[in-house]
Amino acid sequence: MEVNNVELVMSAVSPTQYPTTGYPEIAFVGRSNVGKSSMTNVLINRKSYARTSSQPGKTQTLNFYQVEDQLYFVDVPGYGYAKVSKQEREKWGEMIETYLTQRETLRGVVSLVDARHEPTQDDVQMYQWLSYYDIPILILATKADKIVRGKWNKQESIIKKKLGFNKKDSFVMFSAQTKMGKDEIWKWIEDHAFG
Ligand code: GTP
Ligand code: MG
Repeated sequence: MEVNNVELVMSAVSPTQYPTTGYPEIAFVGRSNVGKSSMTNVLINRKSYARTSSQPGKTQTLNFYQVEDQLYFVDVPGYGYAKVSKQEREKWGEMIETYLTQRETLRGVVSLVDARHEPTQDDVQMYQWLSYYDIPILILATKADKIVRGKWNKQESIIKKKLGFNKKDSFVMFSAQTKMGKDEIWKWIEDHAFG
């Protein structure tokens, strides 16, 4: 998709604040700092539209980015950030769970993991949880530029094994730096948003 217009239309914490236009939505989930905002910027051809930061845990709301007059990208605040209080984490969990289980216009979730490492317990839990609710999932192994090309296949196997990857889901190796994988992500998004 050729993207010219993107707008952050809402930062929501509860369903009453979700957009009401009815466009399909694709959500981005993953640990703090894994690279959700960076990926968003690559997809929409901007350098710094979605705010990237070296401070993990900054995003605390569901951020709805309207892409053209066609769909929303929903940036979900990163999980697994140690410094937030237990109470904040519970609030976070409730907000995410409500969105992911009750949003009728949600068409799929891009779940980001770090290509360099075995997925964390949080990553596995998120994957299993999304699978349980039958939400279409694209596992995106990002920061692939940080490992040599010769190791991509091996890392893919390690990641899939740890997650208990289901063949009905999709997997893409990605780098926000080199933009590898960008076209595959877009194809998956279009297939699920409009398919
Ligand atoms: P939160 O909003 O805190 O949940 O983080 P996030 O998942 O949005 O991560 P963000 O995009 O802000 O990226 C975190 C850091 O990783 C930044 O310093 C990015 O520049 C870096 N980064 C993200 N993607 C890549 C990538 O593909 N390659 C490399 N080398 N660095 C990346
Ligand atoms: Mg972010």
